[in-house]
Amino acid sequence: MAKQNLHQKIDSVFLTKKQIKTRVKELGKQITKDYAGKSLVIVGVLKGSTIFLADLIRCIDLPCVIDFVTVKSYEGTESKGKIQTFIDLREDIKGKDVLIVEDIADTGLTLNFLTEVLKSRSPKSLQICTLLDKPSRRKVKVRPRYVGFKIPNLFVVGYGLDYNELYRNLCYIGIFKQSELNVTSI
Ligand code: IMP
Ligand code: MG
Repeated sequence: MAKQNLHQKIDSVFLTKKQIKTRVKELGKQITKDYAGKSLVIVGVLKGSTIFLADLIRCIDLPCVIDFVTVKSYEGTESKGKIQTFIDLREDIKGKDVLIVEDIADTGLTLNFLTEVLKSRSPKSLQICTLLDKPSRRKVKVRPRYVGFKIPNLFVVGYGLDYNELYRNLCYIGIFKQSELNVTSI
């Protein structure tokens, strides 16, 4: 069997570890300023947001409760267009300031669905922080208050983002080789 290398199917580095670190710090600073004097419930969307969330919360200088939901609409590189899985929060968010943390806003279906679900529980406020945003792919309205990087219509992996569950552990964000997409044996 051919030797596996984590980087061999990456076409090029799109965002370096350093660029990500700098931007995450800026986002943390902005959030700290905007919510000064308050406490936050941070809702991470599993699994893609985990790496970003872990770095971001250490740049937020406020009392924070962390919770997670699982929302899945993707397989391979395409959104299936409907939400496949939903594992709920454990925290009660009624009357709280809630910030959803996501890896990427693509068609917007995931964040739109989640926003509607969480809104119905009457939080005091509800905002979205996404590391990446692909606005050109939007199918439904989603307006993240905090965006790390706006990106063109590319399929990227790393820093939490996956292709068929792999590559989340890359320290950078890379463009996946077009020729390797939709290959089942990765
Ligand atoms: P949406 O519901 O279409 O906005 O998709 C959101 C989800 O799709 C994200 O949470 C990601 O898991 C996944 N996704 C969208 N674009 C990419 C990408 O370029 N790389 C990896 N995952 C992506
Ligand atoms: Mg995701």
